[in-house]
Amino acid sequence: MEVLLIAGARPNFMKIAPIYREALKHPSVVCKLVHTGQHYDYEMSQAFFEDLEIPEPHFFLNAGSGSHAEQTAKIMVAFENVCVQEKPDLIMVVGDVNSTLACSIVAKKLLIQVAHVEAGLRSFDLTMPEEINRMVTDAITDYFFVTEQSAIENLEREGKPKERIHFVGHVMIDNLLHQLKKLENGAKADFPTVSLKDGLGEYVFLTLHRPANVDSRESFLEIADALNEVAAEYPIIFPVHPRTRKMMEVHGVELSPRIHLLSPLGFKESLYLWKDALMVMTDSGGLQEETTALGVPCVTLRENTERPITIQMGTNILGGVKRDSILRACRESLSGRGKRGGVPPRWDGRAAERIWEVIAGGERTET
Ligand code: UD1
Repeated sequence: MEVLLIAGARPNFMKIAPIYREALKHPSVVCKLVHTGQHYDYEMSQAFFEDLEIPEPHFFLNAGSGSHAEQTAKIMVAFENVCVQEKPDLIMVVGDVNSTLACSIVAKKLLIQVAHVEAGLRSFDLTMPEEINRMVTDAITDYFFVTEQSAIENLEREGKPKERIHFVGHVMIDNLLHQLKKLENGAKADFPTVSLKDGLGEYVFLTLHRPANVDSRESFLEIADALNEVAAEYPIIFPVHPRTRKMMEVHGVELSPRIHLLSPLGFKESLYLWKDALMVMTDSGGLQEETTALGVPCVTLRENTERPITIQMGTNILGGVKRDSILRACRESLSGRGKRGGVPPRWDGRAAERIWEVIAGGERTET
């Protein structure tokens, strides 16, 4: 069978790496990679392919940035050509970005089956573009591969047949464990941030890029206030997303000199920094989960999360987006109460293996 595996934006690349590696072990599967080009800067895209050992994509759609409609439409038009040419049996999408939505719709209308990896997550916040992407994708998905119990409950409540929901664990954690092993085997020596990390000793690691947090001046300044206060106590390492870099200039956001601004980092270097942080502050979905898997205290800079297992079982605390609530959550996290974590069921590095077992059956070779 032929499967097109889709990725477009940075958080997708961590998820397709283990899926693609595992596909190679199934002789009955021809898996081809499609990169939509939603993210395109070297640091946001190519660097991840190199870091995560993903081969060159078979198809590059060159969609680029734009409004949601423009970006989604460009991906749809280009992906339809690929589907018509390739006639795949199945497409596999991951996560909740615009590429996930665009490719699912195109495939389904061409009567091609859709598998959604990380299906069923819900923040119930329709102001998030990702929530719309998740809901629409799941409305037309054939195979639901889920990461946590809440996703099963959400899908069942939405009337999805039980036999199509597969609790496989989390491919993001497959990738994390794979890369962690590489790091432990000494892959860190030439990171430019080695001396920064050694020099700081104790530090907080920060990522921030959600439109709701950085596009509005009021929200960004409120969060910046809290960050400057945290920085008075602990230095912060902050790799800055291109959207955030742009909005810092637009809004004239001033950050403490104890907040060390970096360009976006590759996966391994970022892991090298956050895994030893006193605390991670983030509005990313993936980092909430990765910190949970490694038991690193995490304060999420959002009012809600579509990943409740990270709070129930893991080290994650919702900090909200107001100065006072963020500082309260940071105090709780730093006082050790955030570090009560257990690792969620099936976050064991074998999710991709389970996915292909469902799709292609048991025949598998070790390569
Ligand atoms: C997208 C995803 C989001 C994910 C995030 C991770 C959607 C709706 N959003 O948001 O879920 O968490 O990726 O990064 O799919 N830009 C560059 N270089 C790039 C890519 C983007 O400079 O390689 C700039 C562009 O000016 C663009 C802005 O960043 O306008 C935002 O990029 P975009 O892909 O629209 O959304 P993200 O905020 O990255």
